[in-house]
Amino acid sequence: MNKRKEPWVVRSFFRAVRKAKKILFGRSERWHWSTDREYWESHYSSGGASGEGSVGDSREAKWRFISEYVDVRDKTVLDVGCGDLSFWEGKDCRSYTGIDFSESVVEKDRTIRPSWRFIAGDASADHHVSGQVVLCLDMLFHIMSDDSYRRVLANLAHWTEEWLFIFTWFRSPFGRRATDGRYQYYRPLLESLDVLAPLTLVRTRQYDSIGALYVFKRP
Ligand SMILES: C[S@@+](CC[C@H](N)C(=O)[O-])C[C@H]1O[C@@H](n2cnc3c(N)ncnc32)[C@H](O)[C@@H]1O
Repeated sequence: MNKRKEPWVVRSFFRAVRKAKKILFGRSERWHWSTDREYWESHYSSGGASGEGSVGDSREAKWRFISEYVDVRDKTVLDVGCGDLSFWEGKDCRSYTGIDFSESVVEKDRTIRPSWRFIAGDASADHHVSGQVVLCLDMLFHIMSDDSYRRVLANLAHWTEEWLFIFTWFRSPFGRRATDGRYQYYRPLLESLDVLAPLTLVRTRQYDSIGALYVFKRP
């Protein structure tokens, strides 16, 4: 049977609707963590850095907030989505494990801090790791898949011995949209507290008009 082809205008219209839906509501279920990894791998291997949140005033504010609760120099730290370690410039801890799924950045990190442990892997997968302090900074809003997001949260709760510090968005920077459809996805963290159980939320420290540090503790 001959399939009739829709006129060009009709096809263009439906294509535009599909595109708009994707931008407005995202297609989170279609994403896979390997797509996110490709983004970061190409970002780092072409000379990119972890971002503005890892340096300058933003870095200072995050360290100030964290040090109100713990002195990391005495603690074992697990840094999830550790990036290029700019956040750690001038800082140290009792023992450090960093996880990042970009092989390029992990390779570079190993040369910067040869005595630290690094895992080149996806934070939503199983790893035999833990830390008195777990950090997950500027990472959750880069996870495009809902499934990976929930797995990462469950892992953070599981890997933390004492404290969990999450820096993420409390408001979408895209207005009514949740995502840029590329590498950023806003989800309200407070709607997933069940996944972080049994950790309790100790405090939310707003940093600017969209970002906040969430402090969790194991009871
Ligand atoms: C914006 S950078 C932040 C780096 C660091 N946490 C900081 O604050 O300086 C986000 C990092 O998360 C990593 N990342 C994103 N999703 C990940 C995942 N599912 N597993 C492991 N690393 C991930 C990226 O490769 C990137 O290095």
